[in-house]
Amino acid sequence: MGTAEVAGQRTDVETWWRDAVVYQLYIRSFADGNGDGIGDIAGIRARLGHLRDLGVDAVWINPWYPSPMADGGYDVADYRAVEPMFGTGEEAAALVDEAHALGLRVILDIVPNHSSDQHAWFREALAAAPGSPERSRYHFRPGRGPGGDEPPNDWRSVFGGPAWSRVTDDGRPGEWYLHLFDAAQPDFNWSDPRVQEEFESILRFWFDRGVDGFRIDVAHGLVKSDGLPDLGLDEQTMLGPVERSDHPHWDRDGVHDIFRAWRRVADSYAQPRVFVGEAWVDSPERLARYLRSDELHTAFNFDFLRAPWEAPALRQAIDHSLDTVAAVGAAATWVLSNHDVVRHVSRLGRPATNGAGHSLTDLAPAPAFDRELGRRRARAAALLMFALPGGAYVYQGDELGLWEVEDLPDEVLQDPTWTRSGHTDRGRDGCRVPLPWSGTTPPFGFSPAGAHAAPWLPQPADFAAVTVEAQVDDPESMLSLYRAALALRHEHPALGDGPFTWLPSEPGVLAFARGAGFACVVNLSDGPAQLPAGARVLLGSGPDAGDGMVPPDAAVWLAV
Ligand code: GLC
Ligand code: CA
Repeated sequence: MGTAEVAGQRTDVETWWRDAVVYQLYIRSFADGNGDGIGDIAGIRARLGHLRDLGVDAVWINPWYPSPMADGGYDVADYRAVEPMFGTGEEAAALVDEAHALGLRVILDIVPNHSSDQHAWFREALAAAPGSPERSRYHFRPGRGPGGDEPPNDWRSVFGGPAWSRVTDDGRPGEWYLHLFDAAQPDFNWSDPRVQEEFESILRFWFDRGVDGFRIDVAHGLVKSDGLPDLGLDEQTMLGPVERSDHPHWDRDGVHDIFRAWRRVADSYAQPRVFVGEAWVDSPERLARYLRSDELHTAFNFDFLRAPWEAPALRQAIDHSLDTVAAVGAAATWVLSNHDVVRHVSRLGRPATNGAGHSLTDLAPAPAFDRELGRRRARAAALLMFALPGGAYVYQGDELGLWEVEDLPDEVLQDPTWTRSGHTDRGRDGCRVPLPWSGTTPPFGFSPAGAHAAPWLPQPADFAAVTVEAQVDDPESMLSLYRAALALRHEHPALGDGPFTWLPSEPGVLAFARGAGFACVVNLSDGPAQLPAGARVLLGSGPDAGDGMVPPDAAVWLAV
């Protein structure tokens, strides 16, 4: 797969990532090429035209490496190969070439916090003795209490339960190993230089194959505090102290040295290679530290995603994000949904005060969900996001207005969260349901005709109304809005990177200018909002209210 020049990019080749629109492709659920009910590389290659027509600049593909799929591929058994269920290395190479030929850049997902328990290094660690060099690439410790029966400390898995599991040594209960996620995802010990060398070599492996960048999974988790001290959990609530500047395993200062070394690897290539960090940190200020000029190029901005559908909260999230990236000269990024959170149609279609929750258990129950309201607001949110300065992420299905499938039967749930939470948290499967492409019954074109297996998660019957086929010629559809917005974003010199200024507006209304000549007005209030005098509507998310007004829960792009 060559490193050929990417054709047709609007932005300077040196800085394309500063305002790229990146499409997140959750491979298992995008398109199935061979009829086994699971998305794959053949499916992506057959559907690249959808991405070109949508008008995105790049794709980020969720992990496609060999994996037992204990956590949807975030449990990697071999970082230099492709999971056979998804295809082959040759197909991967062909996909990168074909994407480049269409002007699309390709970003892969790298998972450096943990491997699969089937990774060769972890198997070697299990076979080796306590205290061995094989074990020191992970975090192995003796247990506490009589017989070492208690975990070494009080850390909790993100998916529920303790962050430690015990192994057998010489046929008897032995040491414990750390896993901040599933027990099948042992955490690497990043203070072992072999771990650092290995990941730099993995980066080069894929960069040498023409890959344009990496999304870094759990970038804030790699470094653990020496001695692995207790968190000091409250026994009643199991919650740690709310505010702590020295959390023993999240966002520790040492992670920055790792990313400085990674940046040197990326910068050693003639064509820029870029990083986007997944860092769930306490504040935009903490996030900005990852974006210093010798570290990551961009990071996801989850404060925008977490903000409720209320003008003051959104305005604050936008201001704060722009101020902090400006302080380090980085570009902002904006994201509404991804494979870990409830789809935004379903978040926004609930009473506004609940908008801040992003897992199903945080949100008001399904009966409070108004799909039409969610859809209206999602349209307005898309125009807001694409008008902000910087880059933006589209999670597959956002462009179809997909909602969270909240009533998946218990027996099909695959997210480890469901079992690890003792069946109290249904997890993230509801945003991972395979995409509907065409037709009126499942698999809605997700799998080819004559497929021998059903989609890996069942699609609801009402996906029939939102297939690509059903939307493509409908000027009122979500797909048409996304295509129009992205086309205009490419053409209009004021959009993408560049200046941003708030305009005076009524309460509940967000209005801002982008350079001279372009403005965006988003109405989050209950009544119609007035457009600036003399403005001409370029694109609107809702029906035209007439008389220079924008209806509630709608946004407009204006020539001013
Ligand atoms: C990230 C991924 C998520 C995964 C977790 C563990 O948060 O986005 O899907 O479960 O890391 O790798
Ligand atoms: Ca398949």
